[in-house]
Amino acid sequence: MSVAQKDYKKVTVKTLNDMKAHGEKISMLTAYDYTMATIVDGAGIDVILVGDSASNVMAGHKTTLPITLDQMIYHASSVVRGVNRALIVVDLPFGSYQSDPKEALRSAIRIMKESGAHSIKVEGGKEIKESIKRILNAGIPVMGHLGLTPQSIYKFGTFSVRAKEEQEAEKLKSDALLLQKAGCFALVLEKVPAKLAKEVADMLDIPVIGIGAGNGVDGQVLVLHDMIGMTKEFHPRFLRRYLNLYDDMTNAISQYVDDVKSVDFPSDKEQY
Ligand code: KIV
Repeated sequence: MSVAQKDYKKVTVKTLNDMKAHGEKISMLTAYDYTMATIVDGAGIDVILVGDSASNVMAGHKTTLPITLDQMIYHASSVVRGVNRALIVVDLPFGSYQSDPKEALRSAIRIMKESGAHSIKVEGGKEIKESIKRILNAGIPVMGHLGLTPQSIYKFGTFSVRAKEEQEAEKLKSDALLLQKAGCFALVLEKVPAKLAKEVADMLDIPVIGIGAGNGVDGQVLVLHDMIGMTKEFHPRFLRRYLNLYDDMTNAISQYVDDVKSVDFPSDKEQY
């Protein structure tokens, strides 16, 4: 456990608030399956996001749009079985909450009931305010997500930095306040200028967790497969790779192939 980390036994939405109040940064990573979740949780992460980035990372889609509610529930319930300490947040997938508040609530309830996760995340501000309120009224904690919101990628047209212009930055700030006022317990800010992200984090009482949003926010999130180097063709400036597993795994697997072909594996000691 790192120096600047208090030993919270179980992380709850209240813990995240306490962390912000005490100036302790929040660590968050994605996970989509049981095995990875046990490793990430065991390493002391505060929040595990069952992100709809599973659509890219696990299923090979170009965007997050195709993943379904049933698929998110499958990923989330696998993660839940591997976690003892971290707070688990699950993305409501595209199409499961935008059309009307009742459908949004039904989707959120399915995630909570069928996966056992602790909270949900939605992308957007004012446009989905009623859906957020409906979900919160049912006692389900909601994390917001502003800035680059990948479910709207076809509206943006690119994955470039958001809110560089005054007008979009103002809309982002007013959405952030609205999400806090509605009762969201935290907010993800994705790919926005560091100065703006810090301004939002300073303005809000709830924690702001950044990805490509600089170090003036209350915590950081990355996609696990990117930070351990399992993905290869993704090199945004904000990504720090802690391992190079793509190459390490490729080497290990080609060694296994060689060993099988040359009958080096299994050895006498590796058989009955
Ligand atoms: O789906 C996801 O992985 C996310 C993170 C990028 C924040 O929403």
